[in-house]
Amino acid sequence: MNESDIQDFWNRFPCGDWQVGGLQQRRGDYEAFFRDYDRFRYEKEGHILGCLDAIDFKGKSVLEIGLGQGADSEQLIRRGAIWSGLDLTPESVTRVQMRLSLRELPHREVKQGSVLQIPYESGSFDMVFSHGVLHHVPDIRTAQREIRRILKPEGELVVMLYARWSLNYLVAISLVRRLGLLGLYLLGREQQGILGQQGILGQHLANARAVGLWKYLRMENFIHRNTDGPLNPYAKVYDLAEVERDFSGFKVVRSYKRFMHAPPLPVTALPLEKALGWHLWVHLRPV
Ligand SMILES: C[S@@+](CC[C@H](N)C(=O)[O-])C[C@H]1O[C@@H](n2cnc3c(N)ncnc32)[C@H](O)[C@@H]1O
Repeated sequence: MNESDIQDFWNRFPCGDWQVGGLQQRRGDYEAFFRDYDRFRYEKEGHILGCLDAIDFKGKSVLEIGLGQGADSEQLIRRGAIWSGLDLTPESVTRVQMRLSLRELPHREVKQGSVLQIPYESGSFDMVFSHGVLHHVPDIRTAQREIRRILKPEGELVVMLYARWSLNYLVAISLVRRLGLLGLYLLGREQQGILGQQGILGQHLANARAVGLWKYLRMENFIHRNTDGPLNPYAKVYDLAEVERDFSGFKVVRSYKRFMHAPPLPVTALPLEKALGWHLWVHLRPV
């Protein structure tokens, strides 16, 4: 897999943009967009603020990798981080620079670049924070080596990765969505307006037609297209054994799951997030 495909995807579809109607639809009114985006994000994923409250950022030099709209960047700065940011895409870098400037948030710098070649000297940071990013990096071994390099020896890596032992992966994606797509495909419903060629289901059907239904439904392929939309090039799910394998330059210090999310199943109110939540937060230290 080519990193430019991944860059192209995130640049065309900045994380969470369409869920709040898009920046372009607001005719470039960044402030209104950030306000709506943050409300949407923290209403849906309120646990993030609680998780951040439990981390001591104060006075620490923190590199955030994979910025999206910069909502968490703002939260880290407001919690006292001496913050720098890195993202693969020019679009995210522009948006985050705009957020930090509009809201006068003190920070060091925002750089465009890849976690595969982090543009900082060895031992530069007390902490690396990366939420919802590293499961989209195919060459994760190089990524973790780079993160370890730029961390101080006593530094900490905090990541959120998608959880294998989650209702979303085990039931919604592996069973419900695959069976649903199989049914729609076999019924030949792709031409029906309710699904829409441009809508999510329409895109899944187009993907299945392009590569062949059975190949598309194989989990090693289907997972990529079922976390961040049907055009997403790469996604992986993790359990702790897989974290230990992929992040071999680190040891796991603690972990916890959050976020009951398993669309299309209506499960958000179920009190099962610690066992079957979709977001696996892991704190790691260099070995
Ligand atoms: C799913 S979004 C997550 C953004 C944000 N952390 C959040 O939780 O909303 C993934 C972000 O990671 C960035 N990204 C993907 N691959 C990257 C890489 N190799 N190096 C740096 N950033 C990357 C994308 O451009 C995108 O902004």
